[in-house]
Amino acid sequence: MTYSFEQFCADNRAAYDGTGKADLEQIRLNLERLLQENQPFVEEHCGPDADGGVVELYQDPEKGFLVYAHGYAEGRTSPPHDHGASWAIYGQAKRFTDMTEWNRLDDKSRDGYAEIESARKYRLDPGMAGKFGPHEIHQIHFEAGARFVRVTGADLFEEETLTYQPDTNGVVARTVGSAANAGENLTKRHIA
Ligand SMILES: [Fe+2]
Repeated sequence: MTYSFEQFCADNRAAYDGTGKADLEQIRLNLERLLQENQPFVEEHCGPDADGGVVELYQDPEKGFLVYAHGYAEGRTSPPHDHGASWAIYGQAKRFTDMTEWNRLDDKSRDGYAEIESARKYRLDPGMAGKFGPHEIHQIHFEAGARFVRVTGADLFEEETLTYQPDTNGVVARTVGSAANAGENLTKRHIA
């Protein structure tokens, strides 16, 4: 039987412990299973006829996690960034995303200053997912036509996040506030 989106959401809910902490590895595996086993879902939300930009597909009423489909007509390389206190799990649907994970080296005592070094690089191909815990730093690169599904612990547009400039040892904190502020075209279309 196909791994339904409803079952995927139920399995993610079940991945939280009694303290409200999510088992990110379990949710990462759930997302890989959804992408590998539910082709109708992938084609509807990440196929050639799916909307571009960011589509919010689901927000869990009990645990608060969100599921988004992302599609981009043009490629992009992000700066290294975190997602603040939220976690994020990226699951590739079409083409690929190159991930770079960075470690922070300084003691965070100087305002606007950060030393980071790249620690790990890997490619997410379709059906693969990568997980990023609270305050972990990563950078993404994808080419035109890439599509991915992202599960986040909270609404990232409302989190204070850090963006890093490794060439100049800069770091900037900001709360994006809305998708429009981020230059993203956000559609909310909840499917469960
Ligand atoms: Fe990210």
